[in-house]
Amino acid sequence: MTTLIKKVALVTGAATGIGRAIAIRLAKDGIAVAVNYVGDSKQADEVINEIKQAGGTAVAFEANVSVVSEIVQLFDDVSSEFGGIDIVVANAGIAVMGIPIIDVTEADFDRINAVNYKGTYFVLQQAAKQVKNGGRIIQISSTSSLYPAAGLGIYAPSKAAGKVITEILAQELGHRQISVNSVFPGPTRTPLMQKEVSKEEMERITQNMNLGRMGEPEDIANVVAFLAGSDGAWINGQQIIANGGGRI
Ligand SMILES: NC(=O)c1ccc[n+]([C@@H]2O[C@H](COP(=O)([O-])OP(=O)(O)OC[C@H]3O[C@@H](n4cnc5c(N)ncnc54)[C@H](OP(=O)(O)O)[C@@H]3O)[C@@H](O)[C@H]2O)c1
Repeated sequence: MTTLIKKVALVTGAATGIGRAIAIRLAKDGIAVAVNYVGDSKQADEVINEIKQAGGTAVAFEANVSVVSEIVQLFDDVSSEFGGIDIVVANAGIAVMGIPIIDVTEADFDRINAVNYKGTYFVLQQAAKQVKNGGRIIQISSTSSLYPAAGLGIYAPSKAAGKVITEILAQELGHRQISVNSVFPGPTRTPLMQKEVSKEEMERITQNMNLGRMGEPEDIANVVAFLAGSDGAWINGQQIIANGGGRI
């Protein structure tokens, strides 16, 4: 009898939105998934149940990615649970929108950057240390950092850093056959978007989308699945824009 050795993926911020869709999609592709969440485990448990009901493998791990010791513990726990990590998706993020730079407070700046910059930085650093040779690292950025607009003065710069780290890591990890890419979602219908953007603004955004609709979390998960799978093996150090076209 042969034992099927599954690939293992760790997805940060995987209890909701884009992370949730990525976890579910990777599990459908036969990958064992570590579902990272922070705080209340209810939504993470729902993701685990959905994956298990579909015949997949998933375990939830709590960790706050803005605390480096918790990131290190998270990776150690996932490695001991599954015997190693092949794929890391640095997805956890928070947003604040609609604040002109002139009104940004130090507290807002520190809160957002603790997750989006520091959290992403040290998740990617730990991924560089722990992902197996031949593995994949995928960072979820945002088109707001490519096409910045008024009111995005904290969020957009905080999402820009990941792309730079990705490009550096792609060069530093090539000798281990690890590819590192950034995916840039455009406006995508998730709790983050629904919390930060009014209904009227959502309608305005939808009208400006080339394909006449906002992105769905699954649109982004499909791109991540391609990069994580065998067909994506030759893509490395790239910025993949997933916004249905246009500059939004
Ligand atoms: N939606 C969009 O239009 C859009 C566009 C471009 C890029 N993105 C990016 O896509 C990623 C996912 O966002 P989303 O839209 O799916 O929003 P979301 O549903 O709010 O997902 C973000 C996830 O990150 C988690 N998280 C926040 N702080 C964390 C921390 N310190 N440690 C661990 N996990 C933490 C959140 O957990 P809690 O809910 O418990 O806080 C949540 O599950 C983010 O990086 C975001 O910047 C989103």
